[in-house]
Amino acid sequence: MRVLGIETSCDETGIAIYDDKLGIMAHQLYSQVALHADYGGVVPELASRDHIRKTIPLIEAALADAGCSKDDIDGVAFTAGPGLMGALMVGATIGRSLAFAWDKPAVAVHHMEGHLLAPMLEDDAPAFPFVALLVSGGHTLLVRVDGIGRYQILGESVDDAAGEAFDKTAKLMDLDYPGGPRLAKLAESGTPERFIFPRPMTAKPGLDFSFSGLKTATATAMAEEVAAGRDNQQTRADIAHAFQQAVVDTLAIKCKRALTQTGLNRLVVAGGVSANVSLRAQLSELMTSLNGEAFYPRNEYCTDNGAMIAFAGLQRLKAGDTEPLAVRARPRWPL
Ligand code: KG4
Ligand code: ZN
Repeated sequence: MRVLGIETSCDETGIAIYDDKLGIMAHQLYSQVALHADYGGVVPELASRDHIRKTIPLIEAALADAGCSKDDIDGVAFTAGPGLMGALMVGATIGRSLAFAWDKPAVAVHHMEGHLLAPMLEDDAPAFPFVALLVSGGHTLLVRVDGIGRYQILGESVDDAAGEAFDKTAKLMDLDYPGGPRLAKLAESGTPERFIFPRPMTAKPGLDFSFSGLKTATATAMAEEVAAGRDNQQTRADIAHAFQQAVVDTLAIKCKRALTQTGLNRLVVAGGVSANVSLRAQLSELMTSLNGEAFYPRNEYCTDNGAMIAFAGLQRLKAGDTEPLAVRARPRWPL
């Protein structure tokens, strides 16, 4: 079985073809980062318009890369939510229409299910059941995963998502968009423990997260250093380090708690923030200490991409999950 996957939920146009015997046959990705950089964040209308320009040429390029035609495709999967309404509508409309024109089934994929299953594209794929930590720009979720579509939410952020906290903190430190990876880079040269920020919601039981307070901690530290005449590159790196360490420690504490609570010893980490080197190092160390194993997607499948949508779409199609003829996009859609 072979599926074309279309991802347009935010600011990347991702197209891929996944075959259950051959794996990923084509993978096209166009990032709109340059388009939104001047505005310091994603401008939804510009994102939609750019998806309109890029989606069909990238599908043509993917078919050419895979050396196949529409007749070799068994289904069309598209991200139907959650995400930006206009951006989602582009992928949903093109995906649903192509499936209709090609007389193939269409399947609507949940963006976070795509992220969740992305580590299964690797050779060393995790077996069910496992605990998944999903850390992206829009969501922070801890999920017990017993199989495809068998998801139990154990915890989530009550305010900012982990990636959102990285981006907003980067912005208040005057780093260019997209701020998350830049803040992570700056943190690498930071001095550990010159600043220590709170590990929110770790003192009481539970698996929910709150990251918005860390922005305030960063802003306060910055203001104090500026007032004391110590605002220099090293100070900024030290503050970035303290912020990142607080996020990483908090995520690790909650992962350990979720593993203890469920009695599981496999941890899947996915979504844009799973590209973070410090997070990976700490979670891998945690899993070694627990005699368990951590699984991550390769870097290009951590952030938004079409491969994860093609893969999740194929699993859904195999389960007989097809989309009716109407075009539907769901900007808010629980996993
Ligand atoms: O999964 P993703 O591409 O999009 C959403 O579904 O939201 O995640 C994007 C998020 C952004 O907030 C970005 O700043 C963050 O992932 N991110 C990182 C890193 N790379 C991407 N955050 C921290 N460290 C990184 N290396
Ligand atoms: Zn995403």
